[in-house]
Amino acid sequence: MPSLLHALTAASGLSRRKAFAAIREGHVTVDGEVRTEPSSEYAAGLIALDGRLLDTAARAHVYLMLNKPPDYITTVSDEMGRRTVLDLIPARLKAPGIHPIGRLDRDTSGLLLLTTDGDLTHALTHPRFEIEKEYWLRSAAPLTDQQVAQLRSGVEIDGEARRPLRLRRLIDAEPFQTSITIREGRNRQVRRMLEAVGARVTSLRRVREGPLTLGDLPEGAVRALTRDEVAALRSAERPASKRGDGRSGDDPSLGRRSSP
Ligand code: URA
Repeated sequence: MPSLLHALTAASGLSRRKAFAAIREGHVTVDGEVRTEPSSEYAAGLIALDGRLLDTAARAHVYLMLNKPPDYITTVSDEMGRRTVLDLIPARLKAPGIHPIGRLDRDTSGLLLLTTDGDLTHALTHPRFEIEKEYWLRSAAPLTDQQVAQLRSGVEIDGEARRPLRLRRLIDAEPFQTSITIREGRNRQVRRMLEAVGARVTSLRRVREGPLTLGDLPEGAVRALTRDEVAALRSAERPASKRGDGRSGDDPSLGRRSSP
């Protein structure tokens, strides 16, 4: 049986966190009675939020993962008529309001999330939340020790020193050579960081965003996220400073094998 929290989240479009607080704080009624237990069962009945009746038949939000191929633009529509990531979404999954969460460059491939849930998009793309993003890259020549050291001590992008959260050499990951994890999402950040140390990225793929990995989703394919994946994303939407994961700075594991 679905919980009241689940029903409220689906019907209101609120994030899980906000819906939880709304129930706890007594803003929610079912058939006119205040309900304050988010995990209590909800089978049927009129849900109201601050006295406003919600459409409980409203469709739940759609959450998708796409393995974006190069040469697609991350936008909902392109005025120049170029191919967009929306062209890769099958009609049965193309819900009204679906949009990408964040962006990948035209030439970058890999994990791109799309949703109809504007609150989640806001939370995951807001700089305050600093969700981790891992990229695999190939450069014209493998990075030298000096380039690695330079990256680790920070290179200037948009007036600020940016360092990777983690940098690892990849083994058995043809054609990729290096894994780089960052938290910020400045425009073309990975390419610009590499350029700043004199390396040219020849291919770039995002393999992880927060708790979600690309896995073996084929290039150009799309799949719906599972409930657990959506829940994991919601818990990743907390500000980095409150997450208490204690992770920062460089990973001394350059040279170790990686398996996303
Ligand atoms: N960094 C880049 O350079 N490009 C992307 O698409 C994402 C991160």
